[in-house]
Amino acid sequence: MSDTQSLQVFQPPADFVSQAAISGMEAYRALCAEAERDYAGYWARLAREHLSWKVPFTRTLDESQAPFFKWFDDGRLNVSYNCIDRNIEAGLGEKTAIIFESDDGTVSRVSYKDLLVRVSRFANALKASGVKKGDRVVIYLPMSVEGVVAMQACARIGATHSVVFGGFSAQSLRDRINDAGAVLLITSDGQCRGGKSLPLKPIADEALALGGCESIMKVVVWQRTGAECAMQAGRDVFWQDFVAGRADFCEPEWVEAEHPLFLLYTSGSTGKPKGVQHSTGGYLLHAVLTMKWTFDLKPNDVFWCTADIGWVTGHTYIAYGPLACGGTQIVFEGVPTFPDAGRFWKMIQEHKVSVFYTAPTAIRSLIKAAEATATVHPRNYDLSSLRLLGSVGEPINPAAWMWYYENIGGSRCPIVDTFWQTETGGHMITPLPGVTPLVPGSCTLPFPGIQAAIVDETGTELDWGKGGILVVKRPWPSMIRNIWGDAERFKKSYYPDDFNGQLYLAGDGATRDAQTGYFTITGRIDDVLNVSGHRMGTMEIESALVSHPLVAEAAVVGRPDDLTGEAICAFVVLKGIRPEGDAAKKMIKDLQDHVGKQIGPIAKPKDIRFGENLPKTRSGKIMRRLLRSLAKGEEVTQDTSTLENPAILDQLRRGV
Ligand code: WTA
Repeated sequence: MSDTQSLQVFQPPADFVSQAAISGMEAYRALCAEAERDYAGYWARLAREHLSWKVPFTRTLDESQAPFFKWFDDGRLNVSYNCIDRNIEAGLGEKTAIIFESDDGTVSRVSYKDLLVRVSRFANALKASGVKKGDRVVIYLPMSVEGVVAMQACARIGATHSVVFGGFSAQSLRDRINDAGAVLLITSDGQCRGGKSLPLKPIADEALALGGCESIMKVVVWQRTGAECAMQAGRDVFWQDFVAGRADFCEPEWVEAEHPLFLLYTSGSTGKPKGVQHSTGGYLLHAVLTMKWTFDLKPNDVFWCTADIGWVTGHTYIAYGPLACGGTQIVFEGVPTFPDAGRFWKMIQEHKVSVFYTAPTAIRSLIKAAEATATVHPRNYDLSSLRLLGSVGEPINPAAWMWYYENIGGSRCPIVDTFWQTETGGHMITPLPGVTPLVPGSCTLPFPGIQAAIVDETGTELDWGKGGILVVKRPWPSMIRNIWGDAERFKKSYYPDDFNGQLYLAGDGATRDAQTGYFTITGRIDDVLNVSGHRMGTMEIESALVSHPLVAEAAVVGRPDDLTGEAICAFVVLKGIRPEGDAAKKMIKDLQDHVGKQIGPIAKPKDIRFGENLPKTRSGKIMRRLLRSLAKGEEVTQDTSTLENPAILDQLRRGV
């Protein structure tokens, strides 16, 4: 029996089908058939219909330098113009673009007209300080209107931004600034989360002091918390002084469609995080299409994506997609559990949110909270404004799906389980709410035009019903263009020779249902972990651990976790001693803090175990499969006859 057969199927509601942008399976199949017939023509048609071009393109797809593909490359446009000006020209100037709710519940609204002024002034200030088209600007800001303004302002002048999540450490920030060769850093004095005020500028200062950031000419500091912060004369400037006296309008820089809109660093299986480089035209096209087709965005919708702008979801579905469609969206500064775990539900009620997009981890933790405390249960809130729900970032387990469907969606709202990646720019495999019968736990079918498939190790496509490696057979407009400064790594990571350089390798395993062809993602097949929807490379965490003076060797694996999807489990060999009891507990805390300092709190291992050695093959390779079994607490079924010292298995089996 196939994995999805035993589960209930949820048909698209009739009222949805009647009004959805893509209505009914026939319409979906017609789009897929159009792409099949004339692949370039299909995307060219959509790019003409959905984007505003300053100079129309005449070339659609250039494959001459594969896998470095180019889309619409002789066309010119500006993302900020498409997100702001064209809405104002269409009469939406007074429409609310952003409803901002701060951590403490203060609400402010920004209209499209206001947004144009704020973006223009900041863009003019960037230009005046010497930032030019193609320069890189690093943004290290909390969730805020200013974050969106900074990103849009970069796009307006053709500067390439690289947003660094506010939870990353000084070292991580430093590495990203250094790799990108950024000329300007935008940060804030601090951030407000969960009723606490946390410093940010001091971390930025520490990053710059680590060295290797000499390319930075200026640091712009938005005053969010009012905390005292040291300002370096000649380098640091407060946001309000930076924009003071700047003109209210900035003429957009009309850039080539292939101009890099942004870099976003993400973890891979080896080495340091890679700067995923995205384009202007192709990226924006997919942001718009997925807003319209997956989220079925309508003029009266209130859209809320709960991601942070530090991740790709916050790029495509906060900074760009909703604005490019003239939508109204929520930007939320705080956390789902403050002042209590009813915060999301209260905000949906108050702002009459109609489309809600969040991560399975958030759902699972709110289920737990609702079960523990009756007052924060969603049944206490009026959630009748909702019409569509979305999920992203990790597989959603059927039990969490059902709870989300019944308790948040009132058994009325379809759930779009959207599979995609930093590298793909937008949704790749996802239900469309007026089209796709839903099966909990499955991301269902490819977005129209996306040629997803499952192959074996040789790159041969597998029959439905079999599990294998997820690939994309043809380039698509919003795909990653390169890894910043490392074209070789780009080729190796995404177009490996194993597949003759012909298939995009997602890095995930997947299965397809034998009857329906529905995809189910089974998780990463490389050394990348997904903890609460955040991507972490095991190698990065291992490097952080061995940089501790007492650590001789470390190996990191993931193990399933009810709340966070996966949890980080580290096996550590210390120099000389193997601590036990309280000494071990103290060492664990030290190592967790050390990793937090090296990478950021999200990378702290949940579980650390000490051994006198790590299990290795005769050739000295760490037996990771065996470690994964140990992490899960499973019986070790692998052959251990080659192990030098089988006693270490007992040491590593036991936690502290
Ligand atoms: C995982 C986040 C199952 C997957 C947008 C992918 C998912 C990685 C889903 C990318 C989903 C994302 N179902 N798994 N709906 N969405 N993933 O780059 O392993 O932060 O490769 O992009 O998250 O994570 P990233």
